Amino acid sequence: MNFHVLTLFPEMIENGMRTSITGRAMEKGILTLHTVNIRDFAFNKHQKVDDYTYGGGAGMLMQAEPVYLAWASVAEKIEKQPRVIYLTPQGRTFRQDMARELAQEENLVFLCGHYEGIDERVLEEIVTDPVSIGDYVLTGGELPAMVMMDAISRMVPGVLNNQESGETESFSGNLLEYPQYSRPEEWHGKKVPEVLLSGHHGNVDKWRREQSILRTAKWRPDLLKGAELSGKEWNYVHQLKKKWKETQEKNENL
Ligand code: ADE
Repeated sequence: MNFHVLTLFPEMIENGMRTSITGRAMEKGILTLHTVNIRDFAFNKHQKVDDYTYGGGAGMLMQAEPVYLAWASVAEKIEKQPRVIYLTPQGRTFRQDMARELAQEENLVFLCGHYEGIDERVLEEIVTDPVSIGDYVLTGGELPAMVMMDAISRMVPGVLNNQESGETESFSGNLLEYPQYSRPEEWHGKKVPEVLLSGHHGNVDKWRREQSILRTAKWRPDLLKGAELSGKEWNYVHQLKKKWKETQEKNENL
């Protein structure tokens, strides 16, 4: 996977990505990172990249030409036209399935905006995927680009070692991951669930599956719609919801 990032703050991306697991994957050559400073493509006296918006309104806008030239400098080196992700709160919301899908690409270009955004005309010409990382507004696209690259990297074969990857993890099958415990067996008076100490793999798997369903029903009930549960498991969900509703009603009547 080759990441290319068009940004006004390349050092932010370099510092963030060349550490920890993504940094290790770059050293191994499984990932590459190529940052392009958009300012290097502003050929005016002060290398200015922004200007006022036509029609008035607060703030400055990034101009089309430096963004276009920065993109062209990357695109000309890649045989097939790469997907260009523009980080914007107006985009499609980033999710695990999108990370999985994007990890199949050989090259990905991320375009990070600043100020009030980027001139619409260049976005029309180069962007293939406008993406948001959530319904809130950040000061620029660098953090969202790093969030996406981190999540995508984990899906690239070889980036995680076997121990880190874990076959089951949150969002696989639309369920959250079960709770996990390490040593000591008792901490602050809390004991590790007995079944996990039993060495009985069948029972452990059953308990974990149940916990995944319980946790998803409690914290992210919206995910359950897309989960593949057996009839018995759906029954369990209905029982849980009934129990929680009764507890809530009891508490309200107190
Ligand atoms: N730029 C500013 N806010 C953003 C967000 N929530 N997602 C993606 N890009 C952004």
